[in-house]
Amino acid sequence: MRVGYVQTEPRFGEVESNLRRAETLMSEKEADLWVLPELFASGYQFISHTEVEELAESVPDGPTTQRLITVAQKQNCHIIAGIAEKKGGCVYNAAVLVGPAGLRACYRKIHLFAKEKQWFIPGNTPFPVVSIPITDSAEKSVVKVGIMICFDHLFPEAARTLAIHGAEIIAHPANLVIPGYARLTMRVRAMENGVFTITANRIGTEARTEKTLCFTGESQIVSPRGEVLACSANDIEESQVVEIDPVLAQDKTLTPENDLLADRRPEFYHH
Ligand code: ACM
Repeated sequence: MRVGYVQTEPRFGEVESNLRRAETLMSEKEADLWVLPELFASGYQFISHTEVEELAESVPDGPTTQRLITVAQKQNCHIIAGIAEKKGGCVYNAAVLVGPAGLRACYRKIHLFAKEKQWFIPGNTPFPVVSIPITDSAEKSVVKVGIMICFDHLFPEAARTLAIHGAEIIAHPANLVIPGYARLTMRVRAMENGVFTITANRIGTEARTEKTLCFTGESQIVSPRGEVLACSANDIEESQVVEIDPVLAQDKTLTPENDLLADRRPEFYHH
């Protein structure tokens, strides 16, 4: 199957042009699964609750989710993308998974980063793992996709929980601001769990307060052995697609005597 990411430079509050840019980059290549950055349509650096509420959207009825569903139908693919989700008076930093049949999952970021704590309610539902169809494999008819968002990468429990629940690919929409960290951690998350990872980060800056945020790009796709299959620079908008064999993520053996998941000793992990 073909998996890809879109690395964009969203402009704060310019939802229509941010959406169009992501749509254009997805239309240039064919993929079965696309991952887009965190908050890719709204932008990241909010400065008031009014602004968050204005830019947040309901899922799946809001325009961004509906536009993504239309792309998924046209291109016969699945898409995971970050969105500010409005639900019952609360706003979440969320990621939707959509396909030709519509909304399949909505994950609400569990580990909020820095000022996000001012604007969003922390996620209150489990890390999702969703089966999506694949058509080009003799051995598999579905692949299991898990979702986590940006800062979740520094909590190994997030990726481990997804792997324990069967994720073969971890989709990781991001708005990373600490250079180099996720490039490293996501290779480790892939290796220690025997899964593919797809990090879709954004580039550019936002200077809406006295603190300018510089987003670090370097989106990447990593194999279950920690090999970087695709990666981008920190200053270019682009999409990248690679062919992967998801069957590789079912093999959790490291040596004939060791299995990454079966060798766990959870009885010793409580403090
Ligand atoms: C982040 O979680 N957006 C760094």
